[in-house]
Amino acid sequence: MHKILVTGGAGYIGSHTVVELINSGFEPIIVDNYSNSNPLVIQNLEKLCNRSITHYEADCNDEKVLSEIFNEHNISGVIHFAAYKAVGESVSEPLKYYENNIGSLITLLKVMNRFDVSTIVFSSSCTVYGQPDQLPVSENAVIRPANSPYGYTKQVSETILQDCVHANPKFRTVLLRYFNPIGAHPSSLIGELPIGIPNNLVPFITQTGAGWRNELTIFGDDYNTSDGTCIRDYIHVIDLAKAHVKAFEWLEKNTDSIGVFNIGTGNGSSVLQTIQAFEKVSGIKLAYKIGNRREGDVEQIWASNDKAVNELNWKAIYSLEDAMDHAWKWQLKLGEKQP
Ligand code: UFG
Repeated sequence: MHKILVTGGAGYIGSHTVVELINSGFEPIIVDNYSNSNPLVIQNLEKLCNRSITHYEADCNDEKVLSEIFNEHNISGVIHFAAYKAVGESVSEPLKYYENNIGSLITLLKVMNRFDVSTIVFSSSCTVYGQPDQLPVSENAVIRPANSPYGYTKQVSETILQDCVHANPKFRTVLLRYFNPIGAHPSSLIGELPIGIPNNLVPFITQTGAGWRNELTIFGDDYNTSDGTCIRDYIHVIDLAKAHVKAFEWLEKNTDSIGVFNIGTGNGSSVLQTIQAFEKVSGIKLAYKIGNRREGDVEQIWASNDKAVNELNWKAIYSLEDAMDHAWKWQLKLGEKQP
């Protein structure tokens, strides 16, 4: 059985990917420092998968501990999720982002080199495109100067991985450019639970619906879109998780050393449409107001996913309503009181 090291495996996307890896016969080894997740996630994953899951509390910047883990397991590939991801925070604390996101990738790659592990699937983001000229955006669109230090860490990380491919003929990587992951596992055992006030739209919507927050602020309704609010490609986190399994299958079948894929549904939804989908599945009228634009937001972006569909043999199954329904069930399971 292939052992896959999953950094950030207790996080939102990481935990859902661990489930899909197990469902497909891979053996995940989780490394997480719980800086934006909770050790309870491991317990819930074990309940969901009905088995124990190897996991380590460790920081990916810690070369010594990472080496010990590689020494203990015969790891055949890595998925690197572990990173900070709050766009606004990255503007106020850039060094924290450069150190963690870029530092940990370099440390991980050094250890991989030492142990002769040469395949890595990397969590990139559609943020690398900024505001594209053409929509839907495809993988060969121009990469623009990043809007935030966070976005820049994703661009630099992609370049680092490309350079590693160039330097070492054995080294192979898949860069998955995620659009906006939302939703939760239908079991409601795992889902998204950001620490503190959510930055992202969907957890803010569900937490407002549940009474944890008084009201949602829509960041601007004067954009050049059909209803004036920003447009994103919201993808169910399980569909996104499955793309990682497909990435390993692609690496096994192909000889290319680098694959770059957009992982989105191919459909754009506005903030108001997303709220409407929530209201439909929950039966709740959401309290919201219109506020100012948020600095750094792109007006509209959605994916061309043709390449992932054709080459990865991947496709998104869930609709926006499915994702909202699962997100809402997860929120209800968390209870009325904020932890
Ligand atoms: N929004 C609101 N109110 C909120 C939160 C968000 O109106 O309280 C709006 C935003 O302005 C935006 C949309 O909802 O138009 C989506 O915002 P998110 O913060 O959920 O998502 P982003 O598209 O800004 O960012 C996400 C991830 C990043 C990733 C990026 C890629 O958080 O990590 O997608 O575009 F890089």
